[in-house]
Amino acid sequence: MVAAVLAIDQGTTNTKAVLVDASGAVLASGSAPVGLSTPRPGWVEQDADELWASVLAAVASCLTPSAEIVGIALSTQRESIIGWDRRTGSAVGPVIGWQDVRTASWCSSLPASVDDLVRRRTGLRVDAMFSAPKLRWLLDETSADRVGTIDSWLVHRLTGGREHLIEAGNASRTLLYDVVDLAWSFELLDAFGIPVAVLPEVRPSDAGFGVTSGVPGLADGIPIVAVLADSHAAMYGQGCVRAGLVKATYGTGSSVMTPVDSFATDGCTLAWLTDRPTYALEGNIVSSGAALAWTASLLGLADVGALVELAATVPSAEGVTLVPAFAGLGAPHWDREARAALSGMSSSTTRAHIARAAVDAVAHQICDITETLSVMQRLRADGGATVSALLMQTQADLLGRPVEVADVPELSALGAAELAWTALGQPTGWAERRTYRTFEPGSNAGRDDRRTEWAAAVASVTAGAR
Ligand code: G3P
Repeated sequence: MVAAVLAIDQGTTNTKAVLVDASGAVLASGSAPVGLSTPRPGWVEQDADELWASVLAAVASCLTPSAEIVGIALSTQRESIIGWDRRTGSAVGPVIGWQDVRTASWCSSLPASVDDLVRRRTGLRVDAMFSAPKLRWLLDETSADRVGTIDSWLVHRLTGGREHLIEAGNASRTLLYDVVDLAWSFELLDAFGIPVAVLPEVRPSDAGFGVTSGVPGLADGIPIVAVLADSHAAMYGQGCVRAGLVKATYGTGSSVMTPVDSFATDGCTLAWLTDRPTYALEGNIVSSGAALAWTASLLGLADVGALVELAATVPSAEGVTLVPAFAGLGAPHWDREARAALSGMSSSTTRAHIARAAVDAVAHQICDITETLSVMQRLRADGGATVSALLMQTQADLLGRPVEVADVPELSALGAAELAWTALGQPTGWAERRTYRTFEPGSNAGRDDRRTEWAAAVASVTAGAR
């Protein structure tokens, strides 16, 4: 029997489970979808039990008798929160998703001093995307007396309710964790009115998170070895572990990240905590894969694959621009009141041009962030949408830099598995041995015009234009 780490990547729209041996080879994989509901404009919820059921289904579909699971690694969607009842262990209220902006106006009403404190202690800013305002809402509106992020919930369920923990990188996204002192910040807890007693204990990413108990399909006693936030896990899996290496994850939203040597107060996050903290600069895009899905549905197409095929039938968007600010804009614009716009159409515009504009929008948003980074030689891309050669080529063309796509699709799961195997004492460094599909940028011609056209479209939906 081959020894394997079971890596579970719990994302916004699906859960993947992957069995990974000590050399980094994927022995088996499975996935299961997870639903999302939008009960009111700006509200994005999931069901905690359904989310757990998706984990069980994904795990069940990747188990094989030829592998012995020696440890579990988790990679989880960030910022989303869950509350539960300490006594029963059952979820109370919905999972409030990271895209949820129900607390946007409450956030705007906070004094500037809170934003300043948040920046100094966490490197982030007050925004409805992060966990603290969502936790405040959950504690006001439900009877939850235990809360956590998705990693906390999975650890709770995997350990039969024994553990109430959170991994440091996930904690860094709550706005409550001091990423320099590496502890919950009492000043921030005060500012958001969160009692420390409801929060989980913070653990380093590779410190161990209890053992399995009573999980259908899994033996009792399997250690949960390592936990990473999904975007951070992708950066780890991409081997982006030193300054100058930049990765972009193309998920429901997108995250552009690059490691930095020390903590900075603007856009910095704690990537992971092992024997020392590793910080990264990050820009979050609220809607990327979601923009493709929205456009596919608008055009009556079956899925994003069909959208990309349609987009490839025309050489350009012919001046059509989609700014997918459905829930406002994230980095670097940070305008949550902005709303989406489809512009630049003429009587010769076809569905294909609109499809192409959606693909362009994903790539332009990544450029908006990479242009704020001082050094970037190449971009390492991962996430579902990287299967689209059109998107990756568009990305390279708009960046004017090569884009490398790893030959494995599950980089977040693999990143968490790699950290787990390292913690189990195995030599790793898998990224060095990986092969990449490289998309070289085409000629410069037209790049500046396309970027200018995009900037004008963004400006037309942001604060100055309202
Ligand atoms: O910050 C939100 C992010 O972690 C969600 O990731 O892969 O589910 O879009 P994904």
